[in-house]
Amino acid sequence: MAQAQRRRNGNIGNIGNGSECKEKELLLLRERSDSEGQGHQQQQQQQRLNLTTRGSLNNNAKATMVTVLAMAMLLLLFYSSSTSTSTSTSTSASTSASTRITTPSTTGTSDEALSISDADADAVINLDHGDPTMFEPFWKNAGDKSTVVIPGWHTMSYFSDTSNLCWFLEPDFANQVRRLHRIVGNAVTHAHHIIVGVGSTQLIHALLFALSATDTHHPVSVVSAAPFYSMYPGITDFLKSGLFRWAGDATSFKVNGSSSFIEIVCSPNNPDGTLRRAVLSTEAGKLVHDLAYYWPQYTPMRGPADEDIMLFTVSKATGHAGTRIGWALVRDADVARRMVKFIEMNSIGVSKDSQVRAARILQVISDGYELPDPDSTTRFFHFSRRLLADRWQRLRRAVEESGRFSLPQFSSEFCEFTKEHAETYPAFAWLRCVDESIEDCEGFFKSVKVLTRSGRHFGAGPEYIRISMLDRAHNFDLFVERIASLGLG
Ligand SMILES: Cc1ncc(COP(=O)(O)O)c(C=O)c1O
Repeated sequence: MAQAQRRRNGNIGNIGNGSECKEKELLLLRERSDSEGQGHQQQQQQQRLNLTTRGSLNNNAKATMVTVLAMAMLLLLFYSSSTSTSTSTSTSASTSASTRITTPSTTGTSDEALSISDADADAVINLDHGDPTMFEPFWKNAGDKSTVVIPGWHTMSYFSDTSNLCWFLEPDFANQVRRLHRIVGNAVTHAHHIIVGVGSTQLIHALLFALSATDTHHPVSVVSAAPFYSMYPGITDFLKSGLFRWAGDATSFKVNGSSSFIEIVCSPNNPDGTLRRAVLSTEAGKLVHDLAYYWPQYTPMRGPADEDIMLFTVSKATGHAGTRIGWALVRDADVARRMVKFIEMNSIGVSKDSQVRAARILQVISDGYELPDPDSTTRFFHFSRRLLADRWQRLRRAVEESGRFSLPQFSSEFCEFTKEHAETYPAFAWLRCVDESIEDCEGFFKSVKVLTRSGRHFGAGPEYIRISMLDRAHNFDLFVERIASLGLG
């Protein structure tokens, strides 16, 4: 990363003021109930307890009935028993909740609660993909500000700006990209060309082409330090190109004087959230910095990155993965030109509609920091960071209580964006099964209906899994509940 530079925007306040947004309100409610010792987790553990004790309580009820019959007080005792248990408020939590499940006079509401719990207890929780749906509540709250209407006769031409090297780049999108980087202070843009792509996935393809020599019979080696983003090998080798080939973990790659290489540096890293620098520092190689997660909700900002080639994507910056828009900041005009050539051949440009939408989304985020607005929930990074902080705290607690798993630790650092010390909250949990009876961590989680991605896909061992932290609240809550139930005790 380049040297930290002080950002001068004075509108950045403390994280997490206000409660207008729905998910934020839920968050505050949850925090409140946690501090009163009646936390969400406790309630869910209680539900689990109720479900597991249901059978034995049925038996107890039958035994009680027999006793009551034998004492010739069947009806009287049955009714008095059900009345006292269903109305008592002093009964211990487990007894009253269990009674709700087992008593014949249980109301429809309780039955409904039971069936929801049953469905949840049995649900398959898919946290394999990094689908960033957790940001939806912010955009719901943003309402019309983030809505785009495109008249039928707009965006019809292939061309956006024929005077630009990247002729399919929408000028307004480019302006909003530069503006957001300036506000956040995570990348310099003045000396770079902006190349827009169909997600940063297309831009990685374009870069592999642009950085390869076409006049050689030796494919250039593509490497990244393990654990690396699991798509890099597939993106590189999918078309069996003669120009480049995947060569695995950069740390074990032997640099050979005559042959070149491309090292992809992902920072913060997918899957483990660590900050990365290139491991192969030699003139023979070319570096691609994938900065998809270098945004304030995930990690403290250490100043603007100033690399030759930097990749960003709205998928991870704002949560709009479906818009399929990424951008590369590229210093060298020849590399930028070759990338444009690749995109011409691959898709004759990039959807203008998507760029218009992405421009609006970026604009809403920047406006939330630059325009005077008393509503603090308009600050996207503060909102998202708070949600992630809450998720990480709950996950860490559940993992600790389980005694079978571990998570990476991160030290807090000064954030140049928020101007305060901040923790790291990666988009993925890189979880290790430390319990030696578990040989295949992914298989173990699959057996309890939690779908994750094995460390094997990232150049690491089967004792690791990657878990998305970006899913919708309900799925994530179920996951934390389930992991808490997997303890040794
Ligand atoms: C490190 C990294 N780079 C690139 C991508 C691809 O993003 P996009 O949706 O822009 O294609 C991802 C998606 O998960 C990623 O994690």
